[in-house]
Amino acid sequence: MPPSQGGAPHIPDRLSPQNLALARSDTSKSIAQSPYYWPTKPTGLIDQIASALKYLVTGGAGFIGSHLVDFLTEEGHQVVVFDDFSTGSKSNLKQHSDSKQLAVIEGSILDPNALKAATKGVDRIIHLAAAVGLFNIVQHPLRSLRINITGSENVFDLALENKTPVLVASSSEVYGKNTADSLSEDDDRIVGSPQKIRWSYSDAKAIDESMAVALNVQAGLETRIVRLFNTVGPRQMGQYGMVVPRFVSAALKDEPIEIYGTGKQTRCFGHVYDIVRALIAVDRSPHAIGRPINLGVSQEISILDLAKKVKETTNSDSRIVFKSYDEIYPRGFEDTERRVPNNSLLKSLTGWSETKNIDEIIQDVASFLKR
Ligand SMILES: NC(=O)c1ccc[n+]([C@@H]2O[C@H](COP(=O)([O-])OP(=O)(O)OC[C@H]3O[C@@H](n4cnc5c(N)ncnc54)[C@H](O)[C@@H]3O)[C@@H](O)[C@H]2O)c1
Repeated sequence: MPPSQGGAPHIPDRLSPQNLALARSDTSKSIAQSPYYWPTKPTGLIDQIASALKYLVTGGAGFIGSHLVDFLTEEGHQVVVFDDFSTGSKSNLKQHSDSKQLAVIEGSILDPNALKAATKGVDRIIHLAAAVGLFNIVQHPLRSLRINITGSENVFDLALENKTPVLVASSSEVYGKNTADSLSEDDDRIVGSPQKIRWSYSDAKAIDESMAVALNVQAGLETRIVRLFNTVGPRQMGQYGMVVPRFVSAALKDEPIEIYGTGKQTRCFGHVYDIVRALIAVDRSPHAIGRPINLGVSQEISILDLAKKVKETTNSDSRIVFKSYDEIYPRGFEDTERRVPNNSLLKSLTGWSETKNIDEIIQDVASFLKR
């Protein structure tokens, strides 16, 4: 059944055990044809899943969501994607167009009725839908706040009503301007004034986390929280401010690679391949309930070094140029100087470790953009 493109949504029934093996082989065949799909390398935790489940992935047509859908369907699960395609795209899921395991419902998490239909019969919810990207947040602050707070509350309300375990994607943005050497989950948030609109994303994600913690403590709901650090890879688009696809795209066209600020600010980039596996491992860890867990790699690189690496890797003639924040963002914009995750909780709970470095990230993004 192709993903539904409007009209009555098709929500697949649970797979019978007999059909599970068949579905696994069918899916492997179809998504293996996608050049941006990596076969699963089983980890101990993932092997523990013996039977097929039905997942709801909000934001499943997005960058991270679509890689998660690849992973879950390859394992043999049923997946319902709920997405309004604002920053995600149907083409991210085209490798599943013949799959019986995937249903795609177009709708907004701000619409509780549409969301209710999508949650029918699901075993687990992974809530990724959000207004993302700095350009998007500063241009549409009110809409972004509503999606990231009210939309998440709608998802949590349904999870509570149905007693469905839910994992929510938070962000390293909750740490704000905290430049500690290694940010741990209990560290303080240091955020700027609410007048500086960029912090509204950080605040909204922190409220999501607080709701998830409270639902666990007060209502006993199985909630999980992943704090994602910069995640990069194929299917991420640069138009909302994501730095790696923006740099690679410019480099491939020999256009200027624009650094905002001094370029001395540092970031840590994780490959979506590794981050999706970390997210799944957290979703399956009984010790990860009701607490935030950092998902990121600790290899740090300055934005200037990133620009040089992109230029070198893509063999580009681009010039590297600098733009002040005032030229790009509203006046008074504040950036974060560095953000380095402490990922020891993730590693100790799940045994996860990253497999791909920044060079592989740039190469994979470049081959995706060149396709
Ligand atoms: N990529 C990163 O580096 C990163 C870092 C920190 C946190 N995150 C979080 O991870 C999640 C996924 O982000 P991503 O990078 O894949 O971005 P993305 O924009 O590709 O994915 C977000 C998805 O949510 C959908 N969406 C937005 N508003 C919606 C609404 N009202 N109703 C239904 N769907 C809606 C979009 O269409 C998109 O498919 C988000 O919650 C984001 O905040 C990502």
